[in-house]
Amino acid sequence: MPIVTEKLRKFKARENAAYLRSRPLSAARANQPNGFFGGVPQHWMMDWPMPFPLVVHSASGTCLTDLDGHVLTDLCLGDTGAMFGHNPEPVARAIQAQASRGLTSMLPSADVEEVGALLQTKFGMPYWQITLTASDANRFALRAARAVTKRTKILVFDGCYHGAVDETAVNLAAGRTVAKPSLWGQSYDLAAVTTCVPFNDVEALSYALKLEDTACVIMEPALTNCGMVAPLPGFLDEVRRLTRAHSTLLLIDETHTLSTGPGGWTGTHGLEPDIWVAGKAVAGGIPTGVWGFTEEVKRGIERVRSEIPAGHSGVGTTLSGSALQMAALRACLLDVMTETNYAAMIAGAIALEDGIKGLIAEMGLPWSVIRLGARLETVFAPSLPINADQMRASFDYELEAALHLGLLNRGFLVTPFHNMLLAGPSLSRAAPAAYVAALNSILNEIL
Ligand SMILES: Cc1ncc(COP(=O)(O)O)c(C=O)c1O
Repeated sequence: MPIVTEKLRKFKARENAAYLRSRPLSAARANQPNGFFGGVPQHWMMDWPMPFPLVVHSASGTCLTDLDGHVLTDLCLGDTGAMFGHNPEPVARAIQAQASRGLTSMLPSADVEEVGALLQTKFGMPYWQITLTASDANRFALRAARAVTKRTKILVFDGCYHGAVDETAVNLAAGRTVAKPSLWGQSYDLAAVTTCVPFNDVEALSYALKLEDTACVIMEPALTNCGMVAPLPGFLDEVRRLTRAHSTLLLIDETHTLSTGPGGWTGTHGLEPDIWVAGKAVAGGIPTGVWGFTEEVKRGIERVRSEIPAGHSGVGTTLSGSALQMAALRACLLDVMTETNYAAMIAGAIALEDGIKGLIAEMGLPWSVIRLGARLETVFAPSLPINADQMRASFDYELEAALHLGLLNRGFLVTPFHNMLLAGPSLSRAAPAAYVAALNSILNEIL
């Protein structure tokens, strides 16, 4: 039940005024036409719940300094792109060195062998391709899955987000698959190519797969884009069993769940996907997506290539696999995504989780907390939802926005989507307690 009270409205008005007062330089920039639609180079930058976007002067580790000189503890980390901290030193060094040796040539660079071996060892798949984004990786992998299986449909779970990938931009509405109402310029019926079923619903999945027209199930092992929803015990085993039984490929998208541990959720929990995808933080912040696949999928792709003319395949882009990406990937996989860094990240997230849970208990709030390794969120419901419908019922956008702005004014930048928190490797030991103290003071003003 959303909390919309006079106290909440007054709090928001005070926080808006404080934000405006303390950011004259960002405000001056925000009011100047600068040649960009909406004043920002990418329209998502308008989607933050503050009066105008803060302009970033610099960022390092888990600190971000804005144009007005405020030093913030960054728990958003670019919504995962900077999950291992801003400018991880090994990546910064690698891209600097590569800059003097050529950035892109549409030919393999000397790093490919080592990067291939690192991807194999870390994430388990024998064959890999590189893209510019996770969106691209998902799009290309789905195209490959349809080609290999000679089937036309894909299946997603309600509440999913897999990037700018047409086929996955659907919701479940009254039991029917429908295009997300927020899509721009959709020109064909997504329900004709996609089936959407509730997360954690084995029966619905089984019913859909029995039709044997599904090329691929694409899923995150836990939903992270509709709040965070964990799989029920045994659900992922059932997904694997059913996909195998119906000759449907299983694509596990770990773009966000890479927070779970060094091998993602797949490595931590021993999943056996046919295709595995990650992006965002995988090259330390240099735009990169990766998709890996099994020997069987590789043989399928080879067969497809032998059956059709060479030429535009609909897979790949000119800058993908560039020397710059490979240098950044090598440094990130080797020296940043280490057991040590993950241990620090997860310890930071556990401290945040414990602190928030303690505060919730102390204040008697009907809320819960979910954590996937270094990533966590507060859910405005007494027990954790098991699907997107239940999660949507817990949303309170007014409260979420008020908390976001209040935290920002107290020195903490959190993600504009569900106030997700990510603990980077260099998060200070003092930060979790300071965060909880800030949250405490805000909740005392609001509730
Ligand atoms: C699970 C998942 N997959 C893929 C993507 C797409 O990533 P990108 O926007 O970097 O292409 C996202 C973005 O949030 C995501 O959450």
